[in-house]
Amino acid sequence: MPVLRYQEKTFPVPAGNLLEILRSEKALAEYTESIAAPCGGHGTCGKCRVGIRAPAGAVTAPGERELSLLRSVTAPLPEGYIWRLACRCEILAGTVDLWLPEKEGSLTGAQAVFSAREEGTAPWITWQQVSLARPTLADPVAVDENLRRQGIDMPMTDRAANRITALLTAAMDASPGKTEKIPLWIAHNGTQIADAGDSPVPLYAGAVDLGTTTVALSLWRDDGVRLGGTVLANPTRSCGADVISRISYAIDNEDGTERMARQMREAVDTALAGLAAEAGISPARISCRILAGNSVMEHLYAGRNPAPIGKVPFYSQSRFGGIMTGEPMTYLAPTAASYVGGDILMGAAWLLWDRPERREKTVLFLDLGTNGELGIYRDGKFIFAATAAGPAFEGAHITLGMPATPGAVTGIQKTEDGFALTAVDGKPPVGLCGSGILDGMGQMLELGLADAYGGLVDDREAWNTSLPDGLGVDAEGEQCTFAPGIYLTQGDVRQIQTARAAIAAGVEVLCRAAGVDAEQIEEVCLAGSFGHALDVRSAARVGLFPGILADRVSTVGNTSEAGCAAFWLYRAFREILDEVRRTSVYIELSAQPDFGELYMEKMCFEAE
Ligand code: FES
Repeated sequence: MPVLRYQEKTFPVPAGNLLEILRSEKALAEYTESIAAPCGGHGTCGKCRVGIRAPAGAVTAPGERELSLLRSVTAPLPEGYIWRLACRCEILAGTVDLWLPEKEGSLTGAQAVFSAREEGTAPWITWQQVSLARPTLADPVAVDENLRRQGIDMPMTDRAANRITALLTAAMDASPGKTEKIPLWIAHNGTQIADAGDSPVPLYAGAVDLGTTTVALSLWRDDGVRLGGTVLANPTRSCGADVISRISYAIDNEDGTERMARQMREAVDTALAGLAAEAGISPARISCRILAGNSVMEHLYAGRNPAPIGKVPFYSQSRFGGIMTGEPMTYLAPTAASYVGGDILMGAAWLLWDRPERREKTVLFLDLGTNGELGIYRDGKFIFAATAAGPAFEGAHITLGMPATPGAVTGIQKTEDGFALTAVDGKPPVGLCGSGILDGMGQMLELGLADAYGGLVDDREAWNTSLPDGLGVDAEGEQCTFAPGIYLTQGDVRQIQTARAAIAAGVEVLCRAAGVDAEQIEEVCLAGSFGHALDVRSAARVGLFPGILADRVSTVGNTSEAGCAAFWLYRAFREILDEVRRTSVYIELSAQPDFGELYMEKMCFEAE
């Protein structure tokens, strides 16, 4: 059996594809969870880089395509190691030393932060006192039947069942043969019992935005106190950058769905346990999780194969909007369509709950994560659509693209003698995340380094600026450099261009469906991590929305996670979510006759 050696530890592994081994070997998970594989292991993105040192015959030799993808990699490696693409490297025999790029530090991203409302909370789960009959030899009534006799007929979590049983037994032991009735407290939401106790102690819930690339979560007490929050990489991104590649992984691997479900649940549970420990409470006291994600992520989290979402007619197994089977108690947000997920519905409800005055307005809601999801609110209802923008603004399929981790460029501004770059945590720039990509593209268009058709302009005379040697477009017209080692290539610009076209065409079709002109839109709400650090002028210059709307943009943060927290805490929010679910309308962009033509039109970067 071959052996992988990493940081002095050895791991016997089956012979086979290295990426597959890294994905499936549990013992290696803690080290390899941050390996990205945006193309899903098809050998086209060049992002699954690892360093290896192996004797002859221990691994397969790199092919031409792999070598060409690795040619531009200049990052240093320890002596004796070479870069390989994990998805192109087969482990054959012997001992192979592994070196992994530095594990990502904490991700940055928009998080749900809001103050508790004055009207007080009405949590989704509340305590109720019950008096259970004392089981006797003549009537050894079971716990569930005992509850039914008290008029409480609902399923319960294992934790609740075990707690009730333990409390009942303890009370019986403490007063043998005495009391007829034994009082205790159960915590439930009317449909399921989540917990039990001998007194109504505070309840806690996790609010989880399950993104395709990142997972943002926070821990909330039932009186509205936020105990902490964090953002982590979605561990299943090693199975592909976007939802389509995750669907392919679920289809191509017999246990792919279960494996991805396990990875995500473990990541969420571990992160929530960490937040609980920091707050000084036992992780066991977290009664439930309120979770929202796109439809594919919710399917996978629930252990449901999302295969039908991947092909015409794009149907799904479930629209969710209820409690997931299994432990712990988890509410999955309702979805509006296969490509308009629970994250959007939670976000839409949040917009109306957070600012009720929006009900009187025409509002454009954009969540431009790995999937482009759009909505227009007008006359009391949302019209939603999804557009295949691809993950360019998440950094995938962009040569130097990366998540918003330390060293990721979030902003690029023109200065007198070049460009000023802003990077996460003030670290030296190593790559570009979404807002940096958009800023870079905006600068290129503004300064004439790229033309309206997305072609790089390699003629210095034609630029609207002078730049020192080494910055701007190179003589071959292949890449535009903003700082040493930080650039966008012609191929990157094509990715941005198609993403831009999909979003801009989607916005226009949605406006037509809602019967509004762009100028009638009174507010543009930009959600998600992408909107978090975004320069609105760059977004407008690149053409994600009509320029006329640039001064009407509000960045609203992670509305999905905020919605999950509000769902946990406020009845009024739960009613608004239900209203959004009942009244919203979905339109399938690919079925709209004008979408194709608009898409082609919007490939042009002309300012609108
Ligand atoms: S090249 Fe290996 S995952 Fe994309």
